[in-house]
Amino acid sequence: MKNNFHITFFGVKREVVPPELMALASSTSFLSYQDDQFMEQLDPAPDVIVCFATKEEEIANAEIAQTLRMNAPQGIIFFVTYEKSDFNKKILIKNGFSQVYLLPWELKDLIESMKNECVYSFLPELRNYTPVKIVDIIPGTVLDFSVKAFLPLNNLLIPFSFAGSPISPEKMAKLEEHSFNTLFIANEDVEKFRAYTVEIFKGLLKPGSMSETDRHEKLKKCVRDLISDIFIDDLKENTFSKSQNLLKEVKEVIHLLIGDKNLDYLKKIKSMVNQEGSFYQHLSNVSAYAGIFALMLGYDKPEDMALAGILHDLGKVNLPEEFANLEESTLSPHAFKAFQSHPVFTLDVIRLKRIPLPDKVITAILQHHEAMNGSGYPEGLEGHRISIEGRILAIANSFDKLTTLKSGEKRQTPREALETLYADNQGDPQKMILDVQLIKKIIDSI
Ligand SMILES: [Fe+2]
Ligand SMILES: [Fe+2]
Repeated sequence: MKNNFHITFFGVKREVVPPELMALASSTSFLSYQDDQFMEQLDPAPDVIVCFATKEEEIANAEIAQTLRMNAPQGIIFFVTYEKSDFNKKILIKNGFSQVYLLPWELKDLIESMKNECVYSFLPELRNYTPVKIVDIIPGTVLDFSVKAFLPLNNLLIPFSFAGSPISPEKMAKLEEHSFNTLFIANEDVEKFRAYTVEIFKGLLKPGSMSETDRHEKLKKCVRDLISDIFIDDLKENTFSKSQNLLKEVKEVIHLLIGDKNLDYLKKIKSMVNQEGSFYQHLSNVSAYAGIFALMLGYDKPEDMALAGILHDLGKVNLPEEFANLEESTLSPHAFKAFQSHPVFTLDVIRLKRIPLPDKVITAILQHHEAMNGSGYPEGLEGHRISIEGRILAIANSFDKLTTLKSGEKRQTPREALETLYADNQGDPQKMILDVQLIKKIIDSI
């Protein structure tokens, strides 16, 4: 069995590769653009090639993509850059890169992809499988395809259920207990899985609903596209109609999620927690939570809240790079002052891109860091001077921080997280950050 995960880095010195990336490789090699090997087939072929953007004016990144692709027709080649001006995702992918990442903003996404490649290299069989959300598989139903579970610590794919036999409720409960939220089906069974979820949805909900598996995929893509569109500084491009289209797509997905009045809130929430917190993941999670919480609270336009959630932190891309991977609590007083501008920066981006939004969405975005005791920002509003939209979005934002996987920390279940938020904001009004009445209502409705 293979026991080595080899990464070849192009155009970068060992010292400046982010340590998290180095840690994933069992062996590495480094090549510069001047090396002859740049034009040759690499032997042995690395598991992944990570190509850093060239600083040399006369070589175009798209050309590099083509050259590397010729040398490694089947290989995984990631492109990374620290320059927003280099970041023309569609063109770079079209020319041969497997995926492109803007660092440091997308470092977590890059690491997630690298981890997947690492698993694939040790367990190539996994490439023949597609992950599906556990909540889409209903205990007691009979599937006409087999399902497997992946044990990450042992790199093992084991049978979970067989075609023709009913899904065991006990086994499903066990998965839930261990915070699993993904199972695997063979790629050739994807159509059967689709047909199964359509049948289930017909029975449970209104027709046309989407499975959680599809919704996650679609939402993730929408959010990535929306943001990479915003990263591209070129104003000559017709970003207005592009942003409009993306926004329309995001709205459709949101509608599918919260347009359903029969949904089991806790189930939906559970399908989202237990994931690593990348920037995109944060935006799509906060969007879904804000929409669901708004529904639970009887707010009349939950779609607006979900829209505010998707956009709320976009302004962070205009902060200096060192903010990308830092926790708010670790910032120096000076840096924190700059960080506090991000809600306003978000609105600047929205105006610049001419994304038309309802006033309530704008207010929610602006106020998502205001605090009930007046200690928040940017305006230091107090109590009910903060709009209901701002208060709901603040809860969704804090909820995502508590339920997201962080290394070395215990992640909270949805109910625990809500109870933590409740306990932390109860009692002394001087200490109250979030609206505790709203949290109480949310807890009461699950
Ligand atoms: Fe924020
Ligand atoms: Fe946020």
